[in-house]
Amino acid sequence: MRAAMRIGPHLIAPNVILAPMAGVTDRPFRQLCRRLGAGLAVSEMTTSDARLWHTEKSRLRMDHRGEDAPIAVQIAGYDPSMMAAAARFNVEQGAQIIDINMGCPAKKVCRVDAGSALLRDELLVAAICAATVRAVDVPVTLKIRTGYDRAHRNAVAVARIAQDSGIAALTVHGRTREDQYEGEAEYETIAAVKQAVRIPVIANGDVTSGRRAAAVLAATGADALMVGRGALGNPWIFKEISHFLATGQTTTPPPADEVGRVLLGHLDELHEFYGPGRGVRVARKHIQWYCQDHPGSAKLWLAVNRVECAASQRAMVAEFFAAGLRAQAA
Ligand SMILES: Cc1cc2nc3c(=O)[nH]c(=O)nc-3n(C[C@H](O)[C@H](O)[C@H](O)COP(=O)(O)O)c2cc1C
Repeated sequence: MRAAMRIGPHLIAPNVILAPMAGVTDRPFRQLCRRLGAGLAVSEMTTSDARLWHTEKSRLRMDHRGEDAPIAVQIAGYDPSMMAAAARFNVEQGAQIIDINMGCPAKKVCRVDAGSALLRDELLVAAICAATVRAVDVPVTLKIRTGYDRAHRNAVAVARIAQDSGIAALTVHGRTREDQYEGEAEYETIAAVKQAVRIPVIANGDVTSGRRAAAVLAATGADALMVGRGALGNPWIFKEISHFLATGQTTTPPPADEVGRVLLGHLDELHEFYGPGRGVRVARKHIQWYCQDHPGSAKLWLAVNRVECAASQRAMVAEFFAAGLRAQAA
């Protein structure tokens, strides 16, 4: 099985990619996943509304200091000229790949007919793709769902439009917008998309282990995989998948001391990136995700939610893992 893919001039190796996730794939998490084996890590979506580019939220979403190339930034919006301007602005801020969001079902995005709501309007899809591709000299990728709803699974038509508009690679999440995150992802439509276009296709949806990754690649013939929720609290998943794809062997989960060490490093980076107040709040969900399978995590979670101070949050997590190791040794 191929272990790399190309997006324009960029070699993506391994061909396992961290999905854009608003509120999650900030710079600290992207850097961590790249360090632990993701071939590419896509930013949280950034708005195409220029009035919001100078807010604190946008400033942080467009902060790429220290990130490994290629830097991939997702933009969201519905107006072709605004999307073109957003692409240009993000390239000026360091983006080396621009990803267009037509996959997100969130109300905030869809209320203004952006995200996956755009799939209903193929002419608009074409206009957005073409305007964005024309605006920048970096590769532009597109992320879609299989359609707006099950009665309108138009991913193959949208994929052809994307290819004709100069899109460099296409990610397909195997659900419709109406499906939200319900039920299992289906891969037949992704396989049909792969058959229909020459541009690289990235399969997304429910890739949660090496074995599953191999099955999704086999079912779709895709050039790469994108992992979202499977990476929450588990940035080791990229190595696990690459290892399974290369050898057919599973890996053992990281020992508790390594989980603790990586989580504490992640907390330090979040506290620094967001500052102590917001950093503590953003870190809470990550703590829950990393610790949920460890004994005593429910108690830790309750305690962590009451703490507002970065040093106390860190100390609490350090003690949780130290106590776990003492119990193991006893
Ligand atoms: C918390 C969260 C935030 C998300 N934010 C975005 C986003 O900003 N842009 C986007 O295209 N998709 C977004 N998604 C969808 C994911 O990129 C991905 O397509 C979806 O979760 C399916 O992949 P998975 O089964 O591996 O999680 C988000 C998903 C989650 C769980």
